[in-house]
Order: sequence, then structure tokens, then C-alpha cells
Amino acid sequence: MISIIIPTYNERDNLEELFSRIERSLRGLSYEIVLVDDNSPDGTADKARELSSSYPVKIIVRPKRLGLSSAVMDGMNAARGDIIAVMDADLQHPPEVLSALYERIEKGCDIAIASRYIEGGSVENWSPLRKLISRGSIVLAWILLPRVRRVKDPASGYFMFRRGILDGVELNPRGFKILMEILVKGKYDRVCEVPYTFGLRRSGSSKLGAKVIVSYVLHVLDLSSPIIRFALVGAFGTLVNLGVLWFLHYALGIAHEIASALAIEISVLSNFFLNDLWTFRRKRKAGIAGSIFRYHLANASGIIVQYAVSVALFRIIGLESLTSQFIGILIGFLVNYALSRKIVWW
Ligand code: GDD
Ligand code: MN
Repeated sequence: MISIIIPTYNERDNLEELFSRIERSLRGLSYEIVLVDDNSPDGTADKARELSSSYPVKIIVRPKRLGLSSAVMDGMNAARGDIIAVMDADLQHPPEVLSALYERIEKGCDIAIASRYIEGGSVENWSPLRKLISRGSIVLAWILLPRVRRVKDPASGYFMFRRGILDGVELNPRGFKILMEILVKGKYDRVCEVPYTFGLRRSGSSKLGAKVIVSYVLHVLDLSSPIIRFALVGAFGTLVNLGVLWFLHYALGIAHEIASALAIEISVLSNFFLNDLWTFRRKRKAGIAGSIFRYHLANASGIIVQYAVSVALFRIIGLESLTSQFIGILIGFLVNYALSRKIVWW
């Protein structure tokens, strides 16, 4: 059986056409619709109840607006099918594509994605800016998430998959793009894409606003390997370091020797806390004080290695000064990261 998960928020006027087109697309197949509504003020759930006499609809109503991804996950938990589909309610995901997705699953694909970005797919009436943001967000995912690289439209919200690929897999309900979660964490071999045109919204309005970009980037970073977050924290730490130095030396008039030492220490501490909370999600090997101490050791080792490499490259190999220093920084960073992982976290 196919379970079609449809998150809704104020989609009342789209349901009738949606259900009837799903029925036409999947005629003859066994399916259920799992509608996950966040208590829409427009009465979406009531309308769905009314339609449930004619269509196989299961309705889940959550108390308030809790977000798209968690709605999809709640829907999956309630679903009985061994094949799961996820789609929007607003008809921007044409229901006719469901049968094509199912065909691909039957032919052996573990995940079938309705794709805007393969031959034959497109988006209708998007501004150049919206197109750029969409493509840019996908390129970011390709850079940071190796498993996503084979997929042309990993940001799609319209897809079907065999339920078994998520056995024993824990998805993050705060994750912004549920497909991305599945592509990074799922146990699958074959991913297929089916082209479709992301149409215009019929009624109601899009719920994806400006803070969506930030959530998206954070989600991709959360799914990426920790060394990337560690490097970003390090880069941010450099700014903290320079900012504190500026404040202590120029604003407070503290001598450079003291201001510099304090700035270094404060940036090491801020890096520690950011890495603890974000990069490694508090998976510490020791208590907080011990961890801070060990983190200093890892940092100090990184700096010693950085210095040794830089001097060796310059004096022994004869490389140019800045090049030597830069390679030193890279190797020092790797040592710092490896040691942090070995003695501080995980
Ligand atoms: N339950 C619930 N809770 N549903 C929600 C919520 C929520 O907080 N927010 C949105 N929805 C429902 C909408 O009612 C709709 O059915 C679907 O989720 C998508 O929301 P839209 O507001 O229409 O999003 P969009 O059109 O900007 O973007 C969609 O299409 C993109 C391209 O395929 C999303 O599905 C994106 O994830 C997708 O990338
Ligand atoms: Mn939409």
C-alpha cells in the first residue's frame, strides 16, 4: 500500500481537487492519504473529514502550527503503507506525477523524486531571484553533503520511497528539508528522478518566508560532517579574536601584549562552547571543566604543529614564507580537529 503524506496549513479550498486528482492518478492501486493539519483556522480538517466519505483519508490534527517537517514525520508514523509519498496540498505538486513515481519504485528505485531540475522538469513563473536562491541552495547541499550529489533536485518536497530505507534511522523533526534528511541518513541504493513542473499556487499563500533561507543553511550544516562546522566555528573565532582585541586595545586602552592574550583566550573559549553546542552536540568525553582543559591542549598542539610545519617548509623545503605559513595553518587545523575529536568529544 502507498501512504501519501500531505501536510496542510490553510489548504481547505485545494482539498477537493487534490483528492480527486490523486484518485485518478492512482486508480486501481491501494493507497491512503494521511493529512497532517496544524489546526488550520480555515477549517481544512473539517473539509477533509467531509471528503473522507469519498476518499481514503486519515486525518491527524495537531494542536498548533508545528512546522512542515515534523508534520511529515508525524504523518509517516501514522502511515500504514510500505511505500510512502510526500507532497504538498496546494496543487503545486501535480498529483498525476504520483503514478510515475510509483512506476519507478516498482522498477526497483528505493527513492523516486519529483524533480524540477532534470530534462522535462521546470518551474512556472519564478522570478530570477527565486530561481537563483533555489539553485544556490542546491549547490550548497552538493558541496557539503556528498550523498546528495547524485540528485538534481534534493530540495524537492515531492517524493516517494520504500519505507524500509528508514528502518533504524532517526530523522530530525526540526530538519528543514525532510528529503535531505532521508538522502543523507537513509539506507538505500537507487535514487530516481521524475520530471515535473512546479506549478503556480491556486489559492492561499506560500508559507515559506525569509527566515527559511537561514533554517535551510543551518539544516544543511547540521547534516554535514562535523569538520565543516568545526572550520566555520574556527573562522568565526578569528572574528571574535580580532573584535575582542580591538575592544580591549582601542576602546579600553589596554596594552597590546595583554589584550592579545585575553583575545586569544576568549576566542578559544567561545570556540569551545560553539563546538560543544553545535559542532558536536554536547557529546563530551569528560565534564565541562575537564573538556575545556582538553580543548586547550588540542588547540595548543595545533599551534605547535602549525609553527613546526611552517618553519620546516620554509627552512628545509625552501617554500615561500606565506605559502609555508598557510600550509602550516591547514595542517595545524587538522591536528586541532583530530585531537578535539579524540580527547574532547565523541
Ligand atoms: N501541517 C503543516 N504545518 N503544514 C504546513 C506547514 C506547517 O507548519 N507549513 C506549510 N505546510 C504545508 C502547506 O499547507 C503545503 O501543503 C505544504 O506544506 C507546502 O507549503 P507551501 O507554503 O506551499 O510551500 P512552498 O510552495 O513555498 O514550497 C514547497 O515546495 C517546494 C518545491 O517542491 C515545499 O514543499 C518545499 O519543501 C519544496 O521545496
Ligand atoms: Mn506551495
